[in-house]
Amino acid sequence: MTTDPIEHSNSEELIDPISERPGFDQTESRVAILGHPIHAMSVAFPVALTFCTIGADLFYWWTGEPFWARAGLWAVGTGFLFGMAAGFSGTAELLLVSGIRARAPAWTHFIIAVCTLALLGANWGYRLTTGYIDAVLPYGILLSALSLGMVALTGWHGGKLVFDYRLGTSKSS
Ligand code: HEM
Repeated sequence: MTTDPIEHSNSEELIDPISERPGFDQTESRVAILGHPIHAMSVAFPVALTFCTIGADLFYWWTGEPFWARAGLWAVGTGFLFGMAAGFSGTAELLLVSGIRARAPAWTHFIIAVCTLALLGANWGYRLTTGYIDAVLPYGILLSALSLGMVALTGWHGGKLVFDYRLGTSKSS
């Protein structure tokens, strides 16, 4: 028997308690249509509409045309609503699929995504209450720039869940 602590710890088999949980390997999407995950299909809308919002704000700043302020109001409103829909499908996936629920990065994505949705909601609400023209400069466009950074981070991190951790994908055959 060895008394050397280093040699002793090396001889022990290290076990990750999380990966030992039942259902850890169950990562296939459950919120899907014919095997196509609804979350992955719906996230394109809030991402694209957030880009449209900052685009409309920049055009309003440049031209002073009220049309662009109205376009910004619609883009951020629909971006928020589609984002909420995407968020519900993602949350259902997170709660229903044991292998997704067990992984910390899935919860990190949830927290980043909720911050993004809060920013989109604040941006929309601010424009609705202040007036869609007066709201753009300076706070509306600042909120849009912040939302753009956050939505990019959310999408990039969501991509990592799929491409690095293989969450929501079917098992390779
Ligand atoms: C708010 C709660 C959310 C939760 C719990 C959540 C959870 C997830 C999960 C579990 C995945 C892995 C794929 C799957 O199982 O379908 C995923 C992927 C992804 N998520 Fe979310 N998500 C949320 C919101 C959002 C939002 C608001 C966006 C973007 C605006 C977003 C962008 C993405 C992207 C781009 C992917 C990768 C999709 C792909 O490449 O196929 N997520 N999310």
